[in-house]
Amino acid sequence: MANSSKLAAESPLTRKPRAVIVGASSGIGAALARRLAAEGYLVAALARSKSELEAVCGQINAATGETRALAYEHDVTDFDAIPTMFQQLMKDLGGIDVLVYCAGAMPRPEPDEFSFEKDKLMMDTNLLGAVAWLGQGATLFQRMGGGKLVGISSVSGDRGRVLNPAYNASKAGVDTYLEALRNRLTRHGVHVLTVKPGFVETDMLKNSPSSHPGKITPDECAAGIWKAMRGRKQLVYIPWYWRWIMLVVKLIPSFIFRRLSF
Ligand SMILES: NC(=O)c1ccc[n+]([C@@H]2O[C@H](COP(=O)([O-])OP(=O)(O)OC[C@H]3O[C@@H](n4cnc5c(N)ncnc54)[C@H](OP(=O)(O)O)[C@@H]3O)[C@@H](O)[C@H]2O)c1
Repeated sequence: MANSSKLAAESPLTRKPRAVIVGASSGIGAALARRLAAEGYLVAALARSKSELEAVCGQINAATGETRALAYEHDVTDFDAIPTMFQQLMKDLGGIDVLVYCAGAMPRPEPDEFSFEKDKLMMDTNLLGAVAWLGQGATLFQRMGGGKLVGISSVSGDRGRVLNPAYNASKAGVDTYLEALRNRLTRHGVHVLTVKPGFVETDMLKNSPSSHPGKITPDECAAGIWKAMRGRKQLVYIPWYWRWIMLVVKLIPSFIFRRLSF
């Protein structure tokens, strides 16, 4: 869906960087949109919920006193629409410097359920949508010899667990895809960042029955992502201590891990 709003006027000397955030109507994506706009970016915010996107962009534009954020209604599982949407964003924004893939779905299977419908939704949204969108960004940034690709993965990608096998697999796939993009694109001057949050207080977590010790706010998560973007980090766990927790989890031998219920 094209956006007819006009971005804030600027001269070549005051050109603002452009960020596209896919999955920005709530949670981490919305917080990152607010954060990047506050740091001086022009932001295109994409998701399916038009009214929520417009609320996020309205809040940003009111806070900055100019049109810094544009809303685009888009479903990432409509893979065929992605190249056209990418070209539309290029045209509306006058270029793209940062592409963040944040869209995610996590329907919970019952403990004894194997639902292809739920699993496909997670694979399509979390993995295939990421490949389709980040591939567009990779093509552009390789040609530009610069730019930033940011993928929101999860600590859940570090091991296959009892609760939600397809969610684990979708995030593990995103991790490997981003690593491969980094290995291809660093030599072209492109920065590729993998973000692995722990527990973040968002709509996604509300659907989950487990307890979430140490959960952080979306704004805290966005602050961590921004710090890693600025520091050109390759991989960041947010908060930092999840790196060590997951190191221990990864070392648990399979014969024990199989008996655990998380
Ligand atoms: N919350 C956590 O504890 C946590 C931890 C680790 C990783 N993550 C990851 O962080 C990312 C953001 O999740 P969140 O926690 O911020 O949850 P959230 O508030 O539910 O945000 C999910 C975002 O993805 C968008 N989305 C979902 N399906 C989409 C589709 N088919 N097309 C376009 N956009 C779609 C949603 O927008 P619409 O519904 O409007 O389309 C929303 O903007 C996800 O990738 C998630 O896996 C979250």
